[in-house]
Amino acid sequence: MQASKENTKNHLILTGDRPTGPLHLGHFVGSLKNRVKYQHQYQQYIMLADAQALTDNMDNPAKVHDNVIEVALDYLAVGIDPTKSTIFIQSQIPELTELTFYYLNLVTVARLERNPTIKQEIVLRNFERDIPAGFLTYPVSQAADITAFKADLVPVGEDQIPMIEQTNEIVRRFNRLTNKEILMECQALVPEIGRLPGIDGKAKMSKSLGNAINLGSTTAEIKAAVRNVYTDPLHLRVSDPGHLEGNVAFIYLDAFDDDKESLQAMKDHYVKGGLGDSIVKARLETVLQDLLSPIRSRREEFAKDRGEVLRILKEGTRKAREVAAKTTDEVKAAIGLKHF
Ligand code: TRP
Repeated sequence: MQASKENTKNHLILTGDRPTGPLHLGHFVGSLKNRVKYQHQYQQYIMLADAQALTDNMDNPAKVHDNVIEVALDYLAVGIDPTKSTIFIQSQIPELTELTFYYLNLVTVARLERNPTIKQEIVLRNFERDIPAGFLTYPVSQAADITAFKADLVPVGEDQIPMIEQTNEIVRRFNRLTNKEILMECQALVPEIGRLPGIDGKAKMSKSLGNAINLGSTTAEIKAAVRNVYTDPLHLRVSDPGHLEGNVAFIYLDAFDDDKESLQAMKDHYVKGGLGDSIVKARLETVLQDLLSPIRSRREEFAKDRGEVLRILKEGTRKAREVAAKTTDEVKAAIGLKHF
């Protein structure tokens, strides 16, 4: 329907990733696939959050620098189209830092310390008492990112929902303070398909846990990963009945195999007994090779011309900066910081 199509274009999405490593199948399921879809329905801005990545990587800025281009290559390889989505680099938009500085006065240190995502990440990173101030305040920088674009939809994983809540608190405080409706509240878009487990069966696929399958994996790497995929430790002999719960081979097949009917037949056979893991894994390998092979070739194609990738990022950043600068002007005027 034409009318509803026009309606959805009124929505603006702001999303992004910290460029700290290449993206993997968990990212593909959790966000990249949706972004490829959203770019036809909404205005979409995708941010390479390099400045935010430094809040816990200031000891290794080269890693962040190098991964900006790697993540951009992953975006282009999966089909994010720079003529439809605006891809930009956070650190090249000083207005985002500027907004952060003003918003910092709208939150308390105690509130930041209570942010569940931050609390959890402090434990994960073993900061204990040595929390970089920039890390503690990154939710405020995230609020700046979101509000600078007046994004109303923010696709994030479940673990990032407290960021959206904190953003909306800042928006409400700012609008109440200035008695204007300059900033816009946003809504989290949480993907239906939850997070993908790692090949080892741990709850989350992650680079740092070493249980990921990267989007740029070679044929041999995919083969080796599938061989190591965790299945059912109770399924010792082919004739034994197998279990599907926690069985990563089947979880991945559920996520990536489109032939649901024959997959169901395979599951039934596995549960009944008489189907070996090697048959299941052979199917999984075919599915993953078929999925990743076109992504790998597109990635290699784009990687041949890094200059072109940089041009795409530069143009996206220029366009994004215009939007952020306009909002920053409005914000500064509203709090009396427009002197000339
Ligand atoms: N915090 C996000 C992550 O960990 C990255 C990010 C920064 C972001 N700013 C954002 C996501 C704004 C959505 C909206 O990957």
